[in-house]
Amino acid sequence: MKKLVVLAISAIMCLALAACGGSSGGSSGSSSNSSASSASSSATSEGGKLVMGTNAAFPPYEFYENNEIVGIDAEIAKAIAEKLGMELTIEDMDFTSLVTAVQTGKIDMCLAGMTVTPDREKNVNFSESYATGVQVIIVTEDSDIASPDDLEGHQIGAQENTTGHIYCSDDYGEDSVTAYTTGANAVEALKTGKVDAVVIDNEPAKAFVEANEGLKILDTEYAIEDYAIAISKENDELLEKVNNAIKELKEDGTLDEIVSKYINS
Ligand code: ARG
Repeated sequence: MKKLVVLAISAIMCLALAACGGSSGGSSGSSSNSSASSASSSATSEGGKLVMGTNAAFPPYEFYENNEIVGIDAEIAKAIAEKLGMELTIEDMDFTSLVTAVQTGKIDMCLAGMTVTPDREKNVNFSESYATGVQVIIVTEDSDIASPDDLEGHQIGAQENTTGHIYCSDDYGEDSVTAYTTGANAVEALKTGKVDAVVIDNEPAKAFVEANEGLKILDTEYAIEDYAIAISKENDELLEKVNNAIKELKEDGTLDEIVSKYINS
């Protein structure tokens, strides 16, 4: 249901904003990993560098394994870079910083299990969607919260600036939501009773519940959404190339292969 609303708003915003340029938004948080060699905003040329930004605390889409960022998004980006004949590098940063990093050209593209939303579309372009995300609710096994309606009057944890954070603030009021830098921190807060529930994307939710005892995911879905790659509004050439690459990766089965490597259905 939420998806329909999001899509409808999205369509209206597109019409309303068609003539306007992107306004700058988001906050400029700090990059936590390497010092970014500023990505050229015209990263498209064969043999060039393609800088992907992400927040590598979101398994199975992006996470660390032996000091390396791996996951569905990292592999999709690698496959895209290969198709474009470019060399991929990955920058890890706060989720909050990603949209600005795309806008300022610090990164060429963002793959972070990022949901397409009308607000983000004001600031960046999105590629074709490559996956569906579902916002779910994690609670402790003994919780009396059984559906989204029960969240009313409870304290909810979410990763800062994610759709879970935004939707919950809209639906239950900002005071009912505590934002954490990572989903894992929100889950930790749930375990220690600082919050009563965590709203987060379904695949990371599964990973966190698997890694922590005493937690469960509610059956009711809170929102369904599309993941896509964010690219600067100034770089239509890259957007087109990325869209073509995604299409090919869908058609030749590479995308499915990558997903099934990390998610067993
Ligand atoms: N899909 C949600 C959003 O776009 C959460 C994404 C969080 N991603 C991450 N790599 N931490 O807001």
